[in-house]
Amino acid sequence: MNDSEREQLAAAACTAAEGAYAPYSKFRVGAAVLTDDGQVFPGCNVENASYGLCLCAERNALSTAIAAGARKFQAVAVACIDANASLGLNGRMPCGACRQWLLELAPDAELIVAGDTRVFTVRELLPHGFEL
Ligand code: THU
Repeated sequence: MNDSEREQLAAAACTAAEGAYAPYSKFRVGAAVLTDDGQVFPGCNVENASYGLCLCAERNALSTAIAAGARKFQAVAVACIDANASLGLNGRMPCGACRQWLLELAPDAELIVAGDTRVFTVRELLPHGFEL
């Protein structure tokens, strides 16, 4: 992928974040996954009054893509549009559960973080991740 394609996917993640249902945390997150054949699937976080049931944007986007039949992914972008700028990159990275999902479903995808130029591999995010 080139920089302009990365920016496009990051923009799709930012747009997805606008659809977030986050009345409790007020922390809107969007994700966009890019399949090997060029399809883009967005997702946002969806919260619940029973806090532990909150669904992250990355898992929403991956589930949507899987449901549509996608199986191979070249990139995943995440956008935390309400992140505290003072936290820097760590305030905008995927949580541990999403990293485990990425390892299972998109192990060869590169991770793009909206607003940052760094790109990560899934194995960098989750070294020695659990596999069955
Ligand atoms: N969240 C995500 O959507 N993705 C992550 O990787 C980290 C956290 C959501 C969950 C919750 O709705 C809000 O951000 C605050 O934790």
